[in-house]
Amino acid sequence: MEETKYSSVEVHIRKNGPAVIMGKVHVYDSDGNSINTERLSLCRCGLSSEMPQCDGSHKGQPPFENG
Ligand code: FES
Repeated sequence: MEETKYSSVEVHIRKNGPAVIMGKVHVYDSDGNSINTERLSLCRCGLSSEMPQCDGSHKGQPPFENG
């Protein structure tokens, strides 16, 4: 069975936290490295040491400007 190039995923923006993507996703960084998963938390605060993934560094920080 051929894989559909684009399938439905859900993106949940956590208040003062990451963007949580649920569904089969392939994320490619600027070097072409990929993350293939069905659940991924993307950092929105810029503090993660595991970019683009959230590593929890946002906890205890001031609220995000846009929540
Ligand atoms: S949103 Fe969690 S470390 Fe940035």
